[in-house]
Amino acid sequence: MTTTQPLLGAPTARLEAREKVTGAARYATDHPTDRTAYAWPVPATVVRGEITSIDTTAALADPAVLAVLTHQNAPRLHETDDPNLAVLQSPHVAHRGQFVALAVATSLEAARSAAEAIRVTYRTEPHDVVLTPDHPGLYKPDEVNAGLPADREHGDFDTAYANAPVRIDAVYETPALHNHPLEPHAATALWDGDDLTVYDSNQHSSGVQRTLAQLFGLANGKVHVVNEHVGGGFGAKGTARPPVVLAAMAARTVRRPVKLALPRNQLAAVTGYRAPTIQRIRIGADPEGHIEALAHEAITQSSTITEFVEQAATPSRTMYNAPHSRTTHRVARLDVPTPSWMRAPGECPGMFALESAMDELALACGVDPIELRTRNEPAVEPDSGLPFSSRHLVECLREGARRFGWHDRDARIGGRREGRLLIGSGVAASTFPALVMPSQAEAHAAADGSYEVRVSASDIGTGARTVLTQIAADTLGVPLDSVRVRVGSSDLPPASVAGGSSGTASWGWPVHKACTELRQRLAERGYAVPEQGITVATDIAQDIDEREDLARHAFGAQFAEVQVDPATGETRVRRLLGVFAAGRILNSRTARSQFIGGMTMGLGMALLEGSTMDPAFGDYAERDLAAYHVAACADVPEIDVHWIEEEDPHLNPMGSKGIGEIGIVGTAAAIANAVHHATGVRVRALPIHPDVLV
Ligand code: MOS
Repeated sequence: MTTTQPLLGAPTARLEAREKVTGAARYATDHPTDRTAYAWPVPATVVRGEITSIDTTAALADPAVLAVLTHQNAPRLHETDDPNLAVLQSPHVAHRGQFVALAVATSLEAARSAAEAIRVTYRTEPHDVVLTPDHPGLYKPDEVNAGLPADREHGDFDTAYANAPVRIDAVYETPALHNHPLEPHAATALWDGDDLTVYDSNQHSSGVQRTLAQLFGLANGKVHVVNEHVGGGFGAKGTARPPVVLAAMAARTVRRPVKLALPRNQLAAVTGYRAPTIQRIRIGADPEGHIEALAHEAITQSSTITEFVEQAATPSRTMYNAPHSRTTHRVARLDVPTPSWMRAPGECPGMFALESAMDELALACGVDPIELRTRNEPAVEPDSGLPFSSRHLVECLREGARRFGWHDRDARIGGRREGRLLIGSGVAASTFPALVMPSQAEAHAAADGSYEVRVSASDIGTGARTVLTQIAADTLGVPLDSVRVRVGSSDLPPASVAGGSSGTASWGWPVHKACTELRQRLAERGYAVPEQGITVATDIAQDIDEREDLARHAFGAQFAEVQVDPATGETRVRRLLGVFAAGRILNSRTARSQFIGGMTMGLGMALLEGSTMDPAFGDYAERDLAAYHVAACADVPEIDVHWIEEEDPHLNPMGSKGIGEIGIVGTAAAIANAVHHATGVRVRALPIHPDVLV
């Protein structure tokens, strides 16, 4: 039982590619059901206050309308640790767009008309929705996202900074950003007695199962969450969100299967977003650019419902040697929608600030930006003092410089023109933690010589199913097509979220473990498989606990070349290059796609994306993809991606680090640094719109 083709690292195409391009793949609301009802939510039209009355008479006059759910009649829910899910439980309105009613009808059109016919009156209260650097509500949270400490201090920053010969002190701002997956949050919910099945668009079927079980007071086994195909999420689908709860409530009420696809114009308020940040960076260095003192102080917002604190200052705990350092987070709870995870929470906005500041320091010292970063390489992780499991940032920078032609450039600001266009290039570093979370898997050998591997992984378009099949087949020592990997259902062995760039490591590890044990059991039996087959079940919780204490992170280098039209202020990215060190790359095709996707999103962040809080209206103004600009094909230049072959035995049996998020980290800083090189204008607030360059 051997195979000659190398399975790990191969550019294997997605196993479900044909299903997807032929339209056969079923997403959350594609599953056919009988007697289907459709639900349309009603968002609050005030920012803060109390519902005083709801008139549903006109809505219910249509015989196609089966029910209107409000806080007065909706099923009661149990509490969970996410109060955003307590939908239709109270007359209180905590932000504009929060759901206040749900229309359910036998057709989508009837549900929508009914929703529009519902009359809600409110008693309003004054609201506070604008984050400012001196907001009186700012406070120090107990911890920030991912359970990290809010503040860290080493040495004596104030003295070291005051005494440093070269000082940088700048404030960087990133706007609110919305995830906008192509498939909106959507669910089909069905009850069979006390059994709830939801086809739901999410990044974590096991987690959504547990949350729905809590909300409805059911045993986990009574809830079945299917997410066979997911049209993107970027973090917005990492946990259960209100739409799936509404669908399940509606299905229970009308005793029919209910479909709810969230209209995109409601998304901004109820599915999470990347909170805006205001980040002050101070760096004190010697004239050669050696950092003595580094402070990264981040300010952000959360809602009054939940405290979610974007961990923007945390990359400054990992990136550079700084004997005296301070990293802090302050948050204000405003009357805004609740922020949440968006691709590379923390690192993405944080590295825009830090890597822009490093560029400013390079110029202040007259040191090449790559050389500056090399001079500040730490021997161990600066904050934790732990050795790195592996760290090849300098190799990424050097390999990138060679491929990009970095050292051929004229370092002078505004020194290169083509006609009237100003041309510039910039570099920035990239990083993301290499996380792994407890998951379980089963491997089954059937009597006919085929194998089935089961894990409640979520393939959100990344190719998870494919890479898990590669890991399983490679471990079993069999061809790819003799293994079927089942993912996308909470009825499978429980697994962790498709988030934090942790999926492949967290799911691949128990798959590897199960397949290793299964292969041994088969070898012991001379490969004689009994009629009922052989099944091996594994859990990696203990394996994770037993790992050595090390700092585990992926690193990368981002290079950008831009052209700026000084007449119009229009910036175009001409070239992007990313070089990454992320352990062993397990599928070169889907990995490249992940890096390119991340860098494309980083380009959008640099030049296009941003959600604007309307202070009077109290919500984000961009309600669709015509207003919220993501990079379109014409915006995206040649994107070149490479990686360093990195051997790291301290990660997991595959030796992989996550790759889903690191591509977005540093891209915006590389582009902003290139814009500065081209024009001499230092843009410290994203996105870089034309008006700031003319
Ligand atoms: Mo990612 S923001 O952890 O799904």
